Amino acid sequence: MPVAPAPVAPTPGRSRYSAVAILLHWLIAGFILANLVVGWRMGSLSGLAQFDAFQLHKSIGITVLVLSLARLGWRLTHRSPPLPAGMSGVERFAAHATHGIFYLMMIGMPLTGWALVSVSPLNIPTLLWHHIPWPHIAVLHDLPSGPKAGVDRAATNIHLALAFGGAALIALHVLAALKHQFLTRDGVLGRMIPFLSADPR
Ligand code: HEM
Ligand code: HEM
Repeated sequence: MPVAPAPVAPTPGRSRYSAVAILLHWLIAGFILANLVVGWRMGSLSGLAQFDAFQLHKSIGITVLVLSLARLGWRLTHRSPPLPAGMSGVERFAAHATHGIFYLMMIGMPLTGWALVSVSPLNIPTLLWHHIPWPHIAVLHDLPSGPKAGVDRAATNIHLALAFGGAALIALHVLAALKHQFLTRDGVLGRMIPFLSADPR
C-alpha cells in the first residue's frame, strides 16, 4: 500500500536573515546614525571638545568601514532569504537597488573621510577609540601640495554628498520597512528583527 508523504511543517523564521547578518545590520545602522549626528555637531564645537569629537567621528567611521567589509564578505558568501512572494517587480528592484546603494555608502563614506584626513593640510594623526593609531592613506598623504588640495576638495564634497544622500536613503528605507510592517503586513521587518514574526499576517 502506498505511504502518503508526511506533511512538511513550515520552518518558523525561515525567511529571516542569519544572526550574523542581523547583528552586523544593526551595529552598522547604529554607528552610521551616531556618526551622522557627531559629523553635523562637531563643526560647531571648539578647542579640545572639537578635537575629541573629530577623533570620535573617525573612530566610529573606521569601525563602520571594518564592519561593512565584513558584512559585504558575509553577503557575498551567504544567500539572503528570498523576498516575500507578493512583492511586485518594481518593489523588488527598489529593494535590491537600495541595498546596493547602501553598500556603496557604507564603504564610500568612511573611505572618503579617511582620504580627506590623509590630505588635510592640518595633518592631524588619528587614534581610534583613544588607543589604536590609524595611518593616513600613504599614496594620498605623499602627493605634492597641488594635487593634494584637489583630492581634499573632491573627497570632502563626496563625503558630504554621501552623508546627505545617505540620510535621505535611510529615511526612505525606514519608511519602506514601516510600510511593509503596518500596511502590506508581509513580515519584512521580522526578517531583520529577531523577536518579530517574519511570516505574512
Ligand atoms: C559612517 C561613516 C561616516 C559618516 C556617516 C560621516 C558623516 C559625516 C558628516 C555628516 C559630516 C559633516 C558634514 C557637514 O559638515 O555638513 C562629516 C564630516 C567629516 N568627516 Fe565624516 N563620516 C563618516 C566617516 C568618516 C571617517 C572614517 C573619517 C576619517 C577617518 C571622517 C572624517 C570627517 C571629517 C574630517 C569631516 C569634516 C569635513 C569638513 O567639513 O571639512 N568621516 N562626516
Ligand atoms: C544607517 C541605517 C541603515 C542601513 C545602512 C541599512 C542597510 C540595510 C541593508 C544594506 C540591507 C540589506 C540586507 C543586508 O545586506 O544587510 C537592509 C535590510 C533591511 N533593513 Fe536596514 N539599514 C539601516 C537602518 C534600518 C532601520 C532603522 C530599519 C528599521 C526600521 C531597517 C530595516 C531593515 C529591514 C526590515 C531589512 C530587510 C529588508 C529585506 O529583507 O529586503 N534598516 N538594511
